Amino acid sequence: MRVTMRYGAIALAITLVVVLAIWPFATAFVNQWAQRDVEMRSQMLFNAARDQVLSLQGPEDGPRLTVLMERLAEDEGVLAVGLCESGTLRLASSDMPEGFACEQIAVGAGEVFTRADYAGIRAMVAAYPLSAPAEDVRFVILHDYADVEERRSQARIFLLLAAIGVAFGGAALASLVAFWIMRSWTISVRRAIEDAREGRAEDIKHTPTEIGTEIRAALSELDFARRSIDTVHTEWNPETLRIALANELPGSEVIVVSNREPYIHNRDENGEMIVQRPASGLVSALEPVTRACGGTWIAHGSGTGDREAVDGNDRVMVPPSSPAYTLRRIWLTDEEQEGYYYGFANEGLWPLCHIAFVRPVFREPDWRMYQKVNERFAEAVVAEAKRPDPIVLIQDYHLALAPRMIRDRLPDATIITFWHIPWPNSETFGICPYKEEIIDGLLGSSILGFHTQFHCNNFIETVDRVIESRIDRESDSITLKGYEAFVRPYPISIEWPPAAMEGQKPVPEARKAVRKRLGLPEDVQLAVGIERFDYTKGILDRMHGVDALLTAHPELIGHFCFMQAAAPTRSKLANYKSLQEEAEALAREISERHGGPFDVIQLVARHHDPEEVFELFRAAELCIVSSLHDGMNLVAKEFVAARDDEQGVLILSAFAGASRELGEALIVNPYDAHAMGEAFYWALTMEASEQRERMRVMREQVEARNVYRWAGQMLLDAARLRKKQRIMRLIEKERGRAQG
Ligand code: F6P
Repeated sequence: MRVTMRYGAIALAITLVVVLAIWPFATAFVNQWAQRDVEMRSQMLFNAARDQVLSLQGPEDGPRLTVLMERLAEDEGVLAVGLCESGTLRLASSDMPEGFACEQIAVGAGEVFTRADYAGIRAMVAAYPLSAPAEDVRFVILHDYADVEERRSQARIFLLLAAIGVAFGGAALASLVAFWIMRSWTISVRRAIEDAREGRAEDIKHTPTEIGTEIRAALSELDFARRSIDTVHTEWNPETLRIALANELPGSEVIVVSNREPYIHNRDENGEMIVQRPASGLVSALEPVTRACGGTWIAHGSGTGDREAVDGNDRVMVPPSSPAYTLRRIWLTDEEQEGYYYGFANEGLWPLCHIAFVRPVFREPDWRMYQKVNERFAEAVVAEAKRPDPIVLIQDYHLALAPRMIRDRLPDATIITFWHIPWPNSETFGICPYKEEIIDGLLGSSILGFHTQFHCNNFIETVDRVIESRIDRESDSITLKGYEAFVRPYPISIEWPPAAMEGQKPVPEARKAVRKRLGLPEDVQLAVGIERFDYTKGILDRMHGVDALLTAHPELIGHFCFMQAAAPTRSKLANYKSLQEEAEALAREISERHGGPFDVIQLVARHHDPEEVFELFRAAELCIVSSLHDGMNLVAKEFVAARDDEQGVLILSAFAGASRELGEALIVNPYDAHAMGEAFYWALTMEASEQRERMRVMREQVEARNVYRWAGQMLLDAARLRKKQRIMRLIEKERGRAQG
């Protein structure tokens, strides 16, 4: 409607301009025409009457001539007729104005036209010679000037209407053509949007589009607005995630890819098959999401019973208790694991990305193995994909090259890569001998996620320094090889409520059970630390903190215990082996030095299942997370989730991503043993009411920003990207068609 009005207004304006422009010429033309019209009619009247008039020139013809004149005067627009002889009116019709005088008529050889006013009666006088000028006999016809005027204004009106008609017709025709072009354009864009919404498969050619910046800007504004709406209003849980997926990515195929598998089948020492959940933040986060979305999870089969559990296609449905998705296992040789996992990923990239002052090691054979194994994963994705455009969720630093490899094979895939560890500054990353290849690999992603904006910034800065690409800092996107990758922060989290909370004993019972198991008196205050045995976790540093606490407050000896549960990990690597040895020695040394009825530091180096972990959390007065550097750290969030009694204090490293979200924890610098000792003391003496207030706020935070939100936001962004790409492609196609 608005469009129609706009075109109407344009047509009107064009008409007005045309009419104003031609009006002076039109008026002159009408005046001339009116004059000519009178002259012609006069001439015709005279021609018709001349012979009769000439035949009635005898002395007795006067009455007949008068009758003739009366008849002629009845002609339309004629006022009167008369006969002038030598300047005197000899005869005239009865309507001849009183003031008429033959002398006033200009004398000429032919017909003469004069305009005259006879006491208000305006006339146009035509005089026709009937004889030679010497005798001067003239036949006079007076036309009513009012009649001339009326004809003239009538002609003007007709002309005006004609001009308007023509101008408006022309303008309307032009507007109609423009409107038709715009309408077909709009229809094609709308069709494109509808196609995108319905998820119709289209050819994706990853060529840089030349769509106007206005369209781009409008689309990104739309994105931004939607992003804020989602953030504020959606309550995320498995159901909303499923709905979001079904609504926004209908019929999509989701493929998760990670090194670590979510379920490990192991044969225990008795030959019994047991299914383990690995100690992995990645798995804790992704598993509930994949359970909700379904699909396929491709991972390295590392368990001793893994091969027995799969079918002929290396697939097994999991979770074993209620199968919800397919686990597709990839088998790696020892040599492949050495080079790819232990070597390049964990001796190279892991220390490179964490500020833990462990020197990264890069070996060329490791790098080759890393490339080879990434290829294996990429091939598995292609083999598992049932559609040309799956949504592929690639996890972590083990698979930095896979996004590009998958993009090359499945150009229509939407690839979301999430980097679970920090991204260092560009100077630090610059020491990696394969930096260009790693960045190129990652930029095969459609969306590249980090936990924090800080790490996104570090990544973009690194790209800027390392390779030639187009960086758009407004939209945080990087275009390389004609493909745009968006860099976004998605703070990872845990499921809410956590599955491990199911069947948990009430807190007083958990306290009792754990103390009993550890051989501690019931009233002892317990601190816990639970993670993989990794040098980035600050396990030694927290022990120094405990030492500082007991040195400052020896009265706590016998009333306080620190229990460290540490799952052995990457034990083949020297740094990990030595850490474990060092930690065991330090725990012993501190316990011995402070004495007391029980070991003040109890180190339990084994894998703990999630249920056990949650029981420990519920039994403790405090939980310490003292990472030297950590992307997020989900242990901090799990502790908060475990405390439905709203008690317990979290001591949290300022260098873990979680500290950005859990500000009500006691935030510490793990390098400062004294400050850590004080934080321990503060936690142990904190009033129950203060504990409740802090815990309540943190629980609200973790509940709202749970892992379904993390996945939901990524998938919604992927959905928007797919729609946007489809619209862009169709607009391009339409443009191409329009240009012939
Ligand atoms: O922190 C990154 C991360 O991938 C975690 O998600 C996970 O806990 C760990 O590293 C992987 O450990 P692993 O080498 O045992 O798979």
